Amino acid sequence: MRIILATITLGLIIGCSGLDQTQDLSPKGAFIDSLLNEMTLTEKIGQMSQATGSWETTGPVIKDPDMVDLASNGKVGSFLNVFGAKRTRSAQKLAVEQSRLGIPLIFGYDMIHGYATTFPIPLAEAASWDLELIKTSAELTALEAAAAGLHWNFAPMVDIARDPRWGRIMEGAGEDPWWGSQVAVARVEGYQGEDLASLSTIAATAKHFAAYGAAEGGRDYNTTEVSERTLREVYLPPFQAAADAGVATFMNGFNDLNGIPVTASELLVRQILKKEWNFKGFVVSDWASVQEMTDHTIASSDKEAARLALLGGCDMEMVSTTYREYLEALVDEHPEFITHIDDAVRRVLAIKYDLGLFQDPYRYSDPEREAKLVLHNDHFKHARAIAKRSIVLLENRNQTLPLKRDLSRIAVIGPLVDDKETPMGTWSAQGKEENVTTILEGLRLAVGDQTKILTSNGCDVNSSDKSDFKKARSLASKADVIIAVVGEEALMSGEALSRADIGLPGVQLELLQMLKATGKPVVVVLMNGRPIAEPWMYENCDAVLETWHLGVQSGPAIADVLFGSYNPSGKLPVTIPRAAGQIPLYYNHKNTGRAYDPSERYTSQYIDEDHLPQYPFGYGLSYTTFEYSDLSLDKPELHRGDSIEIEVKLTNTGAFSGEEVVQLYTRDLFGSVTRPVIELKGFKKVYLEPGTSTQVSFTITSDNLRFWDKDLNFRAESGAFKVFVGPNSVDHLEGEFSLID
Ligand code: NOJ
Repeated sequence: MRIILATITLGLIIGCSGLDQTQDLSPKGAFIDSLLNEMTLTEKIGQMSQATGSWETTGPVIKDPDMVDLASNGKVGSFLNVFGAKRTRSAQKLAVEQSRLGIPLIFGYDMIHGYATTFPIPLAEAASWDLELIKTSAELTALEAAAAGLHWNFAPMVDIARDPRWGRIMEGAGEDPWWGSQVAVARVEGYQGEDLASLSTIAATAKHFAAYGAAEGGRDYNTTEVSERTLREVYLPPFQAAADAGVATFMNGFNDLNGIPVTASELLVRQILKKEWNFKGFVVSDWASVQEMTDHTIASSDKEAARLALLGGCDMEMVSTTYREYLEALVDEHPEFITHIDDAVRRVLAIKYDLGLFQDPYRYSDPEREAKLVLHNDHFKHARAIAKRSIVLLENRNQTLPLKRDLSRIAVIGPLVDDKETPMGTWSAQGKEENVTTILEGLRLAVGDQTKILTSNGCDVNSSDKSDFKKARSLASKADVIIAVVGEEALMSGEALSRADIGLPGVQLELLQMLKATGKPVVVVLMNGRPIAEPWMYENCDAVLETWHLGVQSGPAIADVLFGSYNPSGKLPVTIPRAAGQIPLYYNHKNTGRAYDPSERYTSQYIDEDHLPQYPFGYGLSYTTFEYSDLSLDKPELHRGDSIEIEVKLTNTGAFSGEEVVQLYTRDLFGSVTRPVIELKGFKKVYLEPGTSTQVSFTITSDNLRFWDKDLNFRAESGAFKVFVGPNSVDHLEGEFSLID
């Protein structure tokens, strides 16, 4: 490496909003200042540019000069989609051995739910309410990725999603800002660990900053209009939590927020992220989102797009090349822009430093470690453990589940019965179909010789062809129970995969209706990347398991639940609507002046659809039953700065041992601005044997009650509050207290 360590000059960065004005006197700060002193403007701009490798693309490819030339000449600071110990090593060699200063590259990749071992999609994991296991998935992703030469994950996606039409709902933790924040922290901690320089960790990205999930009509990339209060109250908390947890990078969204594409949002990036939150890492654009500002009609040229992004605080441009092409000219015209460039380069170099790349740029690219760690058996064990906990039991009429192991015939019917691609979900990185155990395979492993499995697809996921119905009916009518495996294929959710109708695609509903008509019990195993609105299915089938896209161990995990070796404990991190026309439909809505009242004519309702969702946020059944009783508060009044203890008795009143997600909610009865009818504030996951009880306790402090008041101050207002504890956002015990000054 030919980094020239010249006389150390500690550059004072002259301040403007969101520029780092602190002098870093540490050896790291001195090293970066010294390196920056050596760099030409072209080399600086190189560090602010990211190109894509030619192996994989995830968007419209903008023609790049040859990547070899870029890397060898210090004209690029990072690649995405270059992975594998050997490939990253050879690309790194170009930068380190050929370029003038030998500054190492940072390799980024989308590992949304695993590198090669595919874990459940993020939305599914959020249904497990198990932060330790969620963190472990991130740790194992980092372990595999780091061994494959990768330094940087474009995850977690922490966008709040209140619209299940939006395909990217599968990438996040659902609709709730509090839960979204907990999951964001678990994932950041999992990817990054205690030390970025460790060979087991990688840098994480909080994306897509911000409010990308609020796309109008749920259509990806669409315009977003969100007031500053809603932005701060609903969309920003998970980002702030990620920043507080030390996330290394942020990624801009593609969206226009209140008239400004977020890639150029000085308010979001410079003011809120870099100034208010004191974020020291760097911000990368989304794929060509800098150049796309010309299509957004805010920049009349690519040069103008570069200027807006630079001033907006975007430190690295992904894929499009406006920085490389125009920043030099812009600095000629506006010499003061060098301050922004230096700030951006410092941030990029700091993360490279933290990753240990200046000590040894090849340290992550180790074929031996890669061969040993990628797809390790332990990772499959974890994949099964979290997959079974991510399953939500939505219906279980007449205790159809769990199934007995000595059934003589099980009919396993449906287009996804033996599908290996669907369980991997979208964004499956280096996941390969050959590593997936399907439901059919999982069931075969779970049953004994006495059980015969009869199987047929019945139909495709998305076609009108019913020619296989006859065979499916004939097999189904011979069985003791029918397991119907239906839903969405992997590529029916994810980026640019929004749907207007969120029911079961094709003739799958008719398949279910035909199966139900046989008179045999029908257990639906639903695979999907978003909530599915299909009232008939939920209201008529004997049991329904929401299994999302569960990853490589889908089959065994689902079999564990079907046969009761695991009692399901998942709870919905999103509301399931009855119809797309109800969207947006979320649990923490406002009361309105005419809250729904069926006895009233002029009430907030639909005349052609129920007012309520199919299933509320937090909902999920178990094979056992839990009874909540004796809610108590240790005092009726909470003094500001103090805390209040809430206790409830939980009893397992059923026949199975199991886990329950006990949820704590509050309602602020009156405020200087209207307040949601209910807000999640905490949860405990509790394991109980049948017939046993336990006390579950929570603490609420006055800080937990803060919100953005009418003057946009973040504070708790004194007055009356309700507190609720229960199994979901609708059924609960209730208490009251007052916050007093
Ligand atoms: C576009 C997506 O919006 C983003 O999430 C992803 O990280 C980049 N492409 C890179 O693949």
